[in-house]
Amino acid sequence: MLRTPAAVQDAERHTAHNYHPLPVVISSAEGAWVTDVDGRRYLDCLAGYSALNFGHRHPALIAAAHAQLDRLTLTSRAFIHDQFADFCRELAALCGKELVLPMNTGAEAVETGIKVARKWGYQVKGVPAGQANIVVAEGNFHGRTTTIVSFSTDEDARADFGPYTPGFRVVPYGDLAALAEAVDEHTVAVLLEPIQGEQGVVVPPTDYLPGVRQLCTERNVLFIADEIQSGLGRTGATFACEQEGVVPDMYLLGKALGGGIVPVSAVAADADVLGVLKPGQHGSTFGGNPLACAVATEVVRLLATGEFQRRSAELGERLHAGLRALIGKGLVAVRGRGLWAGLDIDPALMTGRAACERLMERGVLAKDTHGSTIRLAPPLTITAEEIDHAVEQLAAVLAG
Ligand SMILES: Cc1ncc(COP(=O)(O)O)c(C=O)c1O
Repeated sequence: MLRTPAAVQDAERHTAHNYHPLPVVISSAEGAWVTDVDGRRYLDCLAGYSALNFGHRHPALIAAAHAQLDRLTLTSRAFIHDQFADFCRELAALCGKELVLPMNTGAEAVETGIKVARKWGYQVKGVPAGQANIVVAEGNFHGRTTTIVSFSTDEDARADFGPYTPGFRVVPYGDLAALAEAVDEHTVAVLLEPIQGEQGVVVPPTDYLPGVRQLCTERNVLFIADEIQSGLGRTGATFACEQEGVVPDMYLLGKALGGGIVPVSAVAADADVLGVLKPGQHGSTFGGNPLACAVATEVVRLLATGEFQRRSAELGERLHAGLRALIGKGLVAVRGRGLWAGLDIDPALMTGRAACERLMERGVLAKDTHGSTIRLAPPLTITAEEIDHAVEQLAAVLAG
């Protein structure tokens, strides 16, 4: 008898229903593959929403975690530990920035970015007290805190969670003119995803990010790039901004930084920006803990080889070519960059959820975003044959 149905029920019984997972119960994983409680194997084409860019249980990351578990796991930032300096120095170098501030989740990195930008606005730019505004984009996804959902345009994410945090202006994504109009003398930052992941891997027009950079420079506004999902190799470069020749003032990083083992996020910026924070003004008990730093330093070293960015760029070509061939055969559009793709399924055919359920039955795990859109973000360790396999399964699902 299959163990999955009872295990699914069991998992739902004592939890809030804030997710609607596919009915698969995973018990082990390696590389791009996971195995469920009934021994069935699936190709993981979600990779923890890009938190597993290096695949499940990458040997170098597991070794770093094991070694650290045997020595020291937590000190709090009340003391300094011996993994901290390497992590900060190497991540700062990867980002081309002077400083980093480690936190845990992506939402915390975003909150940190907002606090830093506001403080910079008051102390450096000279914005009158309490008047700072930050411009964000429609369709954004930056996390789930009360401040962040205050400027979400997704009603599911936002409704009934007010009163909302003021100080945000929402403009259409990809529209430079609207952005220029929204920025005023009290604007401290423009906060954007260089590619909108949750919205369905939406890539902005090519002149958009360079235009945002120029506008921010001209108007003395910080450009904050939320690279929590797009960064660290996903798009075929270390940062999605890099592919547009753009350097933001602040990177927000998360997900893959923890190597799929521990939650690690960070803000990276130069000292004239991050230096506005003084002791007692921001922090986190777990942020920058020894285990997190040991794993994340290894993540940074893997990225410093350039191998994963290269794989993502090269194999991404193959993935996108395979997907583009399905346009008109059940797909209406394909977007993305590197090993990251948003697919719009013909809504007359099926919902994104139904497609993901059928993919699951065929041994491929993916996740719908909105309506008939699904997102593919396999580990960057996936092979060419595995990509072909995923595309073949999708073709079979679309062919009904
Ligand atoms: C672009 C972006 N920012 C922030 C977050 C929030 O990260 P977390 O879920 O770790 O809080 C996400 C999560 O999907 C994201 O995609």
